[in-house]
Amino acid sequence: VRTRVAIVGAGPAGLILSQLLADAGLGSIVVDSRSRTEIESTIRAGILEQNTVDLLRTIDPATRVDTVGHRHDGIELRFGDVGEGHRIDFPSLVGRSVWLYPQHEVLKDLLALRLAAEQDLRFGVTVEGVDDGDPVHPAIIATDAHGDPVRIEADFVVGADGSRSIVRAAVTGSRSGGYFREYPFAWFGILCEAPPSSDELIYSNSPDGFALISQRSPDVQRMYFQCDPTADPAAPSDAEIWDTLQARVPGTTLNEGPVIQRDVLRFRSVVAHELRRGRVALVGDAAHTVPPTGAKGMNLAIADVVLLADALRALLTEGDGQLIDTYADRALDRIWKAQHFSWWMTSMLHVAPDASDFDRRRQLGELRTVLESEAGRTYLAEAYTGWSIEPPK
Ligand code: DHB
Repeated sequence: VRTRVAIVGAGPAGLILSQLLADAGLGSIVVDSRSRTEIESTIRAGILEQNTVDLLRTIDPATRVDTVGHRHDGIELRFGDVGEGHRIDFPSLVGRSVWLYPQHEVLKDLLALRLAAEQDLRFGVTVEGVDDGDPVHPAIIATDAHGDPVRIEADFVVGADGSRSIVRAAVTGSRSGGYFREYPFAWFGILCEAPPSSDELIYSNSPDGFALISQRSPDVQRMYFQCDPTADPAAPSDAEIWDTLQARVPGTTLNEGPVIQRDVLRFRSVVAHELRRGRVALVGDAAHTVPPTGAKGMNLAIADVVLLADALRALLTEGDGQLIDTYADRALDRIWKAQHFSWWMTSMLHVAPDASDFDRRRQLGELRTVLESEAGRTYLAEAYTGWSIEPPK
């Protein structure tokens, strides 16, 4: 088959790209190795930046972000033995907010919207690689849900296929590699059936390690605590999980309830060496991953897509290649700012296993530096709520 743009990956990046391309009159085919049910039920991130919400409202004025999602005007950072808390008030500092609206809900909305618009969207399609032998008509080589070979020829191929991207090899020459760093800890994440323990998110740097108190709905909550990257999610009992969480949020008594899902999230910081080669480009986790502290991952993916959609419109409808030639550099400006912010939040809030007493006290000094200063809180609020999509030059 032939299409204008072949998109690998039906996550937030791939689906929003198909929508923005359709708005510009460009057809696309989106393929994903997973089933629709799997895509709609995988628990992922929870926080949308102001930019992301503005875009979702443009795409669908009736978006459920405004009915099912919750606007959050601040977060709390907590530290020390007694849980000294500092709230960052987003609207008063930067005039912006964030929304708690889980990624799988965003995906349900986008899938429904694209399918209603008769988007060619194929589930259960395993991509094996990109044939870029013809420089202006790259093709995706894949196997469909029935095990039959498929070849999708296009004017452009986009890898929106996540951190284990297959398309990446066609851009960087290798499926692995890139600029990266690892962290000596991971997150133990739970979903529990309990009422919220806090109206807003609490990021806590306790003497025993990091914890994050987030929410999902009136009856289900999402929480995380720092753990060893080799931890077995099945090992601790519910009671042990609650003991760990309670100890890490001094100053708050958490509402406990049955733990209905548990997982260990290992994380890294990665940026691919290249984001585009010829008529193949990467967006989202295929191009970069960030550690989760700071909630940048999905938002950064969507910011890439906004730039790429515009560049593809110029290239494929006007024959103007200027925006595609600068796509990588423009996307990287934001990517490295988000990499820095995610690394910084992670290093400031976690207790490294080898931290000395000096390191620990310096970290508390850093938290005070930021939280007791309006300039410090403003930087944090600006980064957390998200830089505007096209920074003024
Ligand atoms: C959630 C995840 C994050 O990484 C974060 O920084 C905030 C919230 C969440 O899943 O709710």
